[in-house]
Amino acid sequence: MAAAAVAAPKPDILAAFEAAKGFMPVDEGLALYAAAVEAGALGLPLIEIGTYCGRSTLLLADAARAAGVTAVTVDHHRGSEEQQPGWEYHDTEVVDPEVGRMDTLPAFRRTLHAAGLEEHVLALVGRSPQAAALWRAPAGLVFIDGGHTDEHATADYEGWAPHVAPGGLLVIHDVFPDPVDEWTGQAPYRIYLRALESGAFTEVSAHRSLRVLRRTGDGI
Ligand SMILES: C[S@@+](CC[C@H](N)C(=O)[O-])C[C@H]1O[C@@H](n2cnc3c(N)ncnc32)[C@H](O)[C@@H]1O
Repeated sequence: MAAAAVAAPKPDILAAFEAAKGFMPVDEGLALYAAAVEAGALGLPLIEIGTYCGRSTLLLADAARAAGVTAVTVDHHRGSEEQQPGWEYHDTEVVDPEVGRMDTLPAFRRTLHAAGLEEHVLALVGRSPQAAALWRAPAGLVFIDGGHTDEHATADYEGWAPHVAPGGLLVIHDVFPDPVDEWTGQAPYRIYLRALESGAFTEVSAHRSLRVLRRTGDGI
C-alpha cells in the first residue's frame, strides 16, 4: 500500500521560512506545516503561542490560507528570557533603540508582508495568559512555542490546550526529555508529559523536539 502523501509548503513559502529570523529548523517546520494542513481540515483557527519574528507563523498562515481559516499568533514581542541581552539567543537587530527593549513586532510584520500572508493572520500582542483568559473559540490546532520557564509553559498549556477541538492537534516545541540544554530547560517536556498523562491527548508524531498530539479525550 502506498504511503499517504505528507503536505509540504510550496517553494516560495519554504524560502520565506528559511529567510525569516527564528530558531526552528526546516525539518521541524515541515512537520509543523503538515500538522497545520491536517488540522485546517477541521475548519477552525490555528493558534500559535510565541510569534517572535514570524518564522513558524508563516507556515500556519499558509496552511490557514489553504483551509480558509485564520491563523492566530500571540506574543508580547519583548522576547523570552533566553533572548534578552547577554544571553546566547539575543539578537541586537530586534532591539527598539528608543525604548531600549526587544521588539520583534516590526520584523514579524515584514516577514508576513513579504510572503503575502498578512490577511490570513490575526496577531494578538500581549501576554499569553491574558489572551487565553479572553479566548472562547475552539481551535483546530494549538502550537505552544512561547516562554520556556515552568511558569510560562504551564500557563500556555492550561490557557490554550483546553481550546483544542476533539480531533484537533496540540503541537509543542522544544520538548527535550534529557536535561542537556540549559537555556531551553524542560518545561516544554513537562507540559508534553502532562498532556499525555491527562488522557485528553494521544501522541501522533515526534520530529526532533517537535511533538504532535491529538485531542482524543476530556479532562485536561
Ligand atoms: C522561541 S520564541 C518563538 C519562536 C517562533 N515560534 C519561531 O519558530 O520563529 C518565543 C516567543 O515567545 C514570546 N513569549 C514568551 N513568553 C510569553 C508570554 N508569557 N506571553 C506572550 N509571549 C511570550 C517571546 O516574546 C518570544 O518571541
